[in-house]
Amino acid sequence: MRMRNKYRKPTTLRCNAAGSRCSKSVAVWSLVGCLLMLHIYYFVHQKDGKRTENQFRMVHDPQLRELQQVEEENIQIPPPRGKRSPRAAKRRPKRPTTIIDEFLDENSQLRSTFFPGEKTAINPMNDAGNDSFFYYPGRIWLDTDGTPIQAHGGGILYDERTRTYYWYGEYKDGPTYHAHKKAAARVDIIGVGCYSSTDLWKWKNEGIVLEAEESNETHDIHKSNVLERPKVVYNEKTGKYVMWMHIDDANYTKASVGIAVSDYPTGPFNYLRSKRPHGFDSRDMTIFKDDDGVAYMVYSSEDNSELHIGPLTEDFLDVTPTVKRVLVGQHREAPALFKHQGTYYMITSGCTGWAPNEALAHAAESIMGPWETMGNPCVVKSKTFRHTTFFSQSTYVIPLPAIPGTFIFMADRWNPADLRDSRYVWLPLIVGGPVDRPLDYNFGFPLWSRVSIYWHRKWRLPQGWNVLK
Ligand code: GAL
Repeated sequence: MRMRNKYRKPTTLRCNAAGSRCSKSVAVWSLVGCLLMLHIYYFVHQKDGKRTENQFRMVHDPQLRELQQVEEENIQIPPPRGKRSPRAAKRRPKRPTTIIDEFLDENSQLRSTFFPGEKTAINPMNDAGNDSFFYYPGRIWLDTDGTPIQAHGGGILYDERTRTYYWYGEYKDGPTYHAHKKAAARVDIIGVGCYSSTDLWKWKNEGIVLEAEESNETHDIHKSNVLERPKVVYNEKTGKYVMWMHIDDANYTKASVGIAVSDYPTGPFNYLRSKRPHGFDSRDMTIFKDDDGVAYMVYSSEDNSELHIGPLTEDFLDVTPTVKRVLVGQHREAPALFKHQGTYYMITSGCTGWAPNEALAHAAESIMGPWETMGNPCVVKSKTFRHTTFFSQSTYVIPLPAIPGTFIFMADRWNPADLRDSRYVWLPLIVGGPVDRPLDYNFGFPLWSRVSIYWHRKWRLPQGWNVLK
């Protein structure tokens, strides 16, 4: 016999006088529910609308289409030779040669594929005619004096006041050596190089804007230490140009950031101090200045196992106590951030020293996270190129506000046999299209757009990229 449970809640709604309180609250909650659904619907469709708009633009704009037509590469590992360089042999003594071994082997038959010689250098001062403004990723790139640009691990500042782009980076024009047997290849600190340009192609050498300390061995930027990945931001409130950089000792145990300041984009920068941000070790880092003028530092921490993000103080000379751990346990470095239609994006590399590895793109609604990993952004058929980020490592992403959704991906093709001869890989980066990995936090809605970096042996910016300037 079925027992009637007097405590069982009724499943139908009663609308008599006693139930009127209940029905009121049901109505309120239904309304709240409807509003919530509407909100989500609007949010998703607004994003979808923007994405469709973007996709339409990407398919129909011939210039953008050109940027997306990648060139193919087919690098074959050459047959084994008798003698290999000690550097390559030491790295993988027993395994068969990989393309990365070839890349790191200064005697490889493929050397000129990875590091084309002087004859092919990009010289913006030559009357290049039809070849003007073309980027050739991996080739030697000369400044307006005809000297190879020295701005590795760099970043770009667009200075509204002078309507000029400034490229800051590691000036590495010195001998490469190993401080001891097991140490990574290095060049003594020379300083931070600065180059200026109005077209992002012809760069004038503005000199070394922060110089190494020659004599005081206890100084952070004594030449025997490490200064990497300098980034400069302008502070509207103080009128100062503030430089942040990775500061370390030759063994990478200091793991700190350094801060320098100048009244001018072209320096000289006055070195202030170094610190461990929020008390944490910090190695590869970058600075991102948001539209509202707040600047954030992003750094690899906990032995490169995670990234930390936190806002700088109003004067940009320090970090605030606020910090978030992101991409925990993912072992990412070389962060390069950018923003598109209110969403934050970031490209990172894996942690394999000077050797290239696979890039990943990440996205977030708030810069403080949570950050979602979207997958490898590199678009090229060759798996080798895709899995090595075109044999390079991210350093910065330049926004091109006149072509919304289009950016320049800046990377370094490190040459650990001769670091001064490391090359620059600049490629078009476009935000649009669906992502290629399922995401954790999207409640089933594809909120993010894909980030694509298109491989080209030769490419140039579409006309009108700088019309807003
Ligand atoms: C990389 C890092 C570079 C440099 C290099 C030294 O992982 O991204 O900036 O520090 O290691 O081996």
